[in-house]
Amino acid sequence: MGAMLKAAVIGAGRMGGIHANGYFRHPRARLVGICDVDGQRAQSVASLTGVESFTNLGQMLETARPDVVSICTDAAHHLETVLAALEAGAHVLCEKPMSGNVADIQTMIEAAARKRLQLGASFNHRFARVAQKAREYIDGGEVGEICFVNMWLTIAVAAEVSEYFHLRSLHGHSFDMMRYLAGDIAKVHGFLSKPAGRTYYSNCAVGMTFKSGAVGTLIGSYDMSNLHPMERVEVGGTKARLVLENVTAGLTCYRHNCEQAEVWIPSNYTRHVGQSEYDFNLTVEHRIDAFVRTIIDGAADPAPAEHALAATRVIEATIRSFESGCVTDV
Ligand SMILES: NC(=O)c1ccc[n+]([C@@H]2O[C@H](COP(=O)([O-])OP(=O)(O)OC[C@H]3O[C@@H](n4cnc5c(N)ncnc54)[C@H](O)[C@@H]3O)[C@@H](O)[C@H]2O)c1
Repeated sequence: MGAMLKAAVIGAGRMGGIHANGYFRHPRARLVGICDVDGQRAQSVASLTGVESFTNLGQMLETARPDVVSICTDAAHHLETVLAALEAGAHVLCEKPMSGNVADIQTMIEAAARKRLQLGASFNHRFARVAQKAREYIDGGEVGEICFVNMWLTIAVAAEVSEYFHLRSLHGHSFDMMRYLAGDIAKVHGFLSKPAGRTYYSNCAVGMTFKSGAVGTLIGSYDMSNLHPMERVEVGGTKARLVLENVTAGLTCYRHNCEQAEVWIPSNYTRHVGQSEYDFNLTVEHRIDAFVRTIIDGAADPAPAEHALAATRVIEATIRSFESGCVTDV
């Protein structure tokens, strides 16, 4: 057997449990610790995977000495936990948003570079097979020159944290997906709204141009229902149109010169019983797999922290655009 990585997870909420499972099941990783300031939460995730739980981050880093750490705390604690893990010599995979603040992400990137450690962003949506397939169509020249990207990402989040929380917390995923498919975003024009009863903005519409010259639109919301599909992406090219349904549900390619659509859907029951590529949690496991291979094999990380920085710059430009009412450079 090749090298095995010792892995730990900080923050044992919903995402911490998914990351812990990802390392637990990974053939080249061994889970060595789960840390949460809430001891019961740490214990409940740790007991599922048979590892030690901690309530003190420093103690876990010193005792378990992980090679790689996933940061799954709420975003307000990402900076301090990322820096502590890097300082202890661990590679770090950080949940989105790495920070709502460009300067914090730059600080994290500089710290990782100083320690010569990998710092990855957990943009799991684009690790779904559906997004990877779309990239294959684009890379194979089958879509042609990209003319437009349309995306919506809408979920139900009742929390009222701060004025731009919806944009900052959710749409790193959206701008990252749009950049993944069509490259850098050059300019944005953002509109935000809130329905009656909301204190802060919970809906957005963002028009944009890509550096390539393509155009795009994003619709986002925290006011929809989690009972229904949450995401749809459409890529229009000079040769074909791709439609990516609900992160994992499937991909359709409509070639301009063919009356038949090509549909790619995941086959069920091809992995662990009851788990298929339809499973959203598997997108996180694919992200973890890529990060583990980056560390062990020295492969380039497909989603380094620099991509989180780029997506955050688009979010900040959208806020500036909304406040000024003007089209704004990213
Ligand atoms: N990639 C995705 O699809 C996706 C989906 C949902 C949430 N997220 C992100 O994942 C992160 C976690 O979200 P969640 O829904 O799991 O939150 P959660 O509230 O369920 O869990 C967060 C946990 O972190 C713990 N924590 C907070 N500060 C800590 C610290 N300093 N040290 C140790 N533990 C600490 C809390 O006690 C809590 O148990 C957030 O950044 C969120 O935006 C990502």
